[in-house]
Amino acid sequence: MDDIKIGLVGLGTVGSSVLKMITENQDKVQNITGRRLNVKTIVVRNIAKHQDQVPENVKLTTELADIVNDPEIKIVVEVMGGLHPAKEVITQLLNAKKHVVTANKDLIASAGEELAALARANHCDLMYEASVAGGIPILRTIVTSFAADHITEVKGIVNGTTNYILTQMQRRNWTYDQALMKAQELGFAESDPTNDVEGIDAAYKMVILSQFSYGTHIKLANMKVEGISAIQQRDVLQADAFGYTIKLLGISRRINGGVFAEVGPVLVPKDHPLATINNENNAVMVTGEAVGETLFYGPGAGGLPTANSVLSDIVSVTKNIVLGTTGNSFNNYQSDIGRVDPND
Ligand code: NDP
Ligand code: HSE
Repeated sequence: MDDIKIGLVGLGTVGSSVLKMITENQDKVQNITGRRLNVKTIVVRNIAKHQDQVPENVKLTTELADIVNDPEIKIVVEVMGGLHPAKEVITQLLNAKKHVVTANKDLIASAGEELAALARANHCDLMYEASVAGGIPILRTIVTSFAADHITEVKGIVNGTTNYILTQMQRRNWTYDQALMKAQELGFAESDPTNDVEGIDAAYKMVILSQFSYGTHIKLANMKVEGISAIQQRDVLQADAFGYTIKLLGISRRINGGVFAEVGPVLVPKDHPLATINNENNAVMVTGEAVGETLFYGPGAGGLPTANSVLSDIVSVTKNIVLGTTGNSFNNYQSDIGRVDPND
């Protein structure tokens, strides 16, 4: 059987961990799919910066055309981030009939339906487990394990950078700036951390979670979104003294036939499970009519945890290629049950 040839767009925190996992975990993937994975070409902005990271048989280039025009490359991982040119990149890839795996929540929350339609039209898979809560397999879980239940609420900590900052301010007495700088150094923050600290990254994730939970697309403009940039060390310490922990929470709830969603800092009593989620870890509470309240916990940011979610998508796409069942990924991920549109 031929290897599955893969293209990567981006070789930063997530991309370099994806390359490492593909290289090191070949045997397991082959046992599951019957095929080996082979990274053939990687697109970056600055070749010199990455020369030492890449094995000799992998082509490092600045030209997306080297992937788009290569008929051997079947799956492309987009981990460059941001809305543009990522949208144009994924559009070109899908039109060239490449299956796409991405970690890009900005793009999926803003243009997921449009890109999914393009993927379907080209009989391609578009998968994005890593776009929400990093290493927690939450999108698959909602699709598979809540398939027959009606989800009434999804809430939790869905941004690793802000949870890391708030944890360090409370536990180590660090200043906001000190903690943010460390989160950037550790690779948790976006290249421009504004979206992290202003709650926008968490809001993108709540848009995707709501889509999966209720089949409803919420526009960011219809959400109240507040971040943590105005929170000072004294706020965190005062909350601590009164028995609370400040957490940036995303909340999305079905109410009166519509969906209410918001992101903002909340005083969480210390004995609440969400108060115990520290550092870059995330936790998502999903409430279903039948199952009741459930809680999913794990690393919400960082190279390897996120790469693990990317790899799970690559394995799914590879299975679909082998079985000839590509082209339905977003449908499989989307719940049509009880679709309601609060934006109408
Ligand atoms: P980084 O900033 O670390 O890496 C981005 C990479 O993309 C770099 O290699 C950069 O190249 C490349 N790149 C950026 N713009 C272009 C362009 N125009 N053309 C070609 N290459 C480009 O980002 P991360 O790895 O942290 O994040 C990648 C994606 O994963 C984002 O969508 C992010 O939101 C998402 N994500 C990140 C997580 C994390 O913990 N970091 C967790 C979950 C999701 P060069 O190095 O040459 O500049
Ligand atoms: N910047 C994001 C965060 C990365 O801190 O949660 C994971 O999506």
